[in-house]
Amino acid sequence: MKDFVIIGHKAVTAPFSLNDLPGAAGRMDILCRCVNAALFLSHDLRRDVRVYLVLKGEPVPPKLIRFDGAEVRYLSPDERSAASLIKKALEKNVQEFWTESTPGVYIRKGTFSDLLVELGKKIIYLREDGENVRRMTFDEPLFVLGDHLGLTDDEEKTIETNEHEILSVGPLSLHADHCIVLLHNEMDRVEKHI
Ligand SMILES: C[S@@+](CC[C@H](N)C(=O)[O-])C[C@H]1O[C@@H](n2cnc3c(N)ncnc32)[C@H](O)[C@@H]1O
Repeated sequence: MKDFVIIGHKAVTAPFSLNDLPGAAGRMDILCRCVNAALFLSHDLRRDVRVYLVLKGEPVPPKLIRFDGAEVRYLSPDERSAASLIKKALEKNVQEFWTESTPGVYIRKGTFSDLLVELGKKIIYLREDGENVRRMTFDEPLFVLGDHLGLTDDEEKTIETNEHEILSVGPLSLHADHCIVLLHNEMDRVEKHI
């Protein structure tokens, strides 16, 4: 299983309009693109992938959303489709445990730190100045990426209290969804021996 965690510092925690994902929804567009980059192949889904979104925007943060590639339905490869499933999840009365909102999409109350404890895996934190991804091999990886704001000092400290590595996919600062595509490509090449 490959896990991706993306932190949305402004991503709203109540239902939002699908017509203003970058603005009123708090850069929800970034998270939606990450969901698509992590899960979609051409005409298929990556069933060995789970995507976790940490929503830290108003009015009732923090909330966690999970897309499970093995189970997800009603998701098509456009931002609005992912956004609509996130919006449906936010319409649920959230608990401290995961509840399913639509097939393969789950929501719970919880912090980034709660999520790391739950997953209990070594963290691979994606950052521009990290070690070269091409020197690494991955076994059941848990990748953590930031949104347009990167990660806060507190979030970095949370990572540092866990077993972790800091990796870079290249010399330039990229969008988080593009990093996910590059990570998949690196792993695909290793898995297919090319
Ligand atoms: C748009 S970037 C964030 C830029 C933000 N201004 C900052 O200072 O962190 C979004 C995320 O993509 C990841 N990222 C971007 N470029 C990367 C690279 N070359 N290697 C590894 N991760 C990268 C990081 O996780 C980053 O938080």
